[in-house]
Amino acid sequence: MTSAAVVLARCAELATVSASPTWLERTHLTPEHRRANALAGAWMEEAGLRVWQDAAGNICGRREGRTPGLPALLLGSHLDTVPDAGAYDGMLGVLMAIAVAERLSERALPFALEVIGFGDEEGARFGKALLGSQAVAGSWDEHWWSLRDRDDISLLEAFEAFGLDPRRVGEAARRPEELAGYLEAHIEQGPYLEAADASLGYVTTIAGARRFRLTVTGEARHAGGTPYERRRDALLGAAEMVVAVERLARAAGTIATVGRIEVQPGAVNVIAGRADLTLDLRAATDAERDRSWQEIERALLTVCETRDLHLDVVETHRAAAAHCADGLTEAVVAGIRASGDDRPRGLWSRAGHDAMAMAEVTDVAMLFVRCHDGISHHPEESVREIDVARGLDAFEQAVLEVARRTAVAPA
Ligand code: GLV
Ligand code: MN
Ligand code: MN
Repeated sequence: MTSAAVVLARCAELATVSASPTWLERTHLTPEHRRANALAGAWMEEAGLRVWQDAAGNICGRREGRTPGLPALLLGSHLDTVPDAGAYDGMLGVLMAIAVAERLSERALPFALEVIGFGDEEGARFGKALLGSQAVAGSWDEHWWSLRDRDDISLLEAFEAFGLDPRRVGEAARRPEELAGYLEAHIEQGPYLEAADASLGYVTTIAGARRFRLTVTGEARHAGGTPYERRRDALLGAAEMVVAVERLARAAGTIATVGRIEVQPGAVNVIAGRADLTLDLRAATDAERDRSWQEIERALLTVCETRDLHLDVVETHRAAAAHCADGLTEAVVAGIRASGDDRPRGLWSRAGHDAMAMAEVTDVAMLFVRCHDGISHHPEESVREIDVARGLDAFEQAVLEVARRTAVAPA
């Protein structure tokens, strides 16, 4: 039986598959993505699954249920990372899914069991998150092909270089009738389970998110010779914007982050002529998120007016807040109880997850595993072996609970 210790050893092994010798960075459609798929695929095979890479670059494994061709219960998460990542965000969920598939290998289930490692959840390379799961959910948007990475490589070019055929991306899509649901285990990425002294929790809803690329254009001029009244300093405008974003989002009860600024021409004695910023905005509901964006956009335009700057806004990502399905969530709650916790805690997820894309095509539910101090998107991400062990028991029992419910459900 695949133990928590084995799952953690596999997380450590996956964490060595990186584009950088000094930190963990594994983005979409890169050689590291290919190597991670190969490793995860080999572990899926060991667990007795039939393995394939789908038309969007996700690694998939399947074992048939009682009879071949039944709808599949999907267990999954993502294999890509942010730059300088920890070893558990995404990966833990994929490896727990593989372990649960292995544990259940002798069971004849009333559904096929599939494991999926999505190739892009973070959106770290192209700015657009959830590319892997949106392909599977059948919500691919042709506009995404022209998204570009930092090296100006388009998604279309990267797809082809990875050996995928862009014209066939639709083949990754799954139809609702092929699916019995989607379950995802993930580290909490927040401090609430630790504060409640709980190993596990279940997710009620997942935050709605929007991401933007903001380009502030001013005028590059001599840093000495240009009087203040004549300056159109894009970096000063960007700085005011960053502060306004935090102030407005705090007041609205939403969560907004500017994670990157790049300045052109970027010289010590030249006023910045251009600043490119990213903005990530989340809220419990889509309406709150959209209201907050309207306020932020108004404030950014005011900064531009005051400083004679120009603002271009490109929305790079939008994901609706997702509700976890009652039936599957009850199965996760039953799993948490079976792992020894008689007071399962429900949380809303501030982080985005593949489950929000999958909710467009099937019922979803999520199991959260406590992580230390809420640290995530950082190399100090950590989980305890005992929590992973309880998580495996809960995840396995959740699948069996879905099986019980499927068996008694009317045809
Ligand atoms: C994914 O980790 C996200 O919420 O950004
Ligand atoms: Mn994640
Ligand atoms: Mn993440």
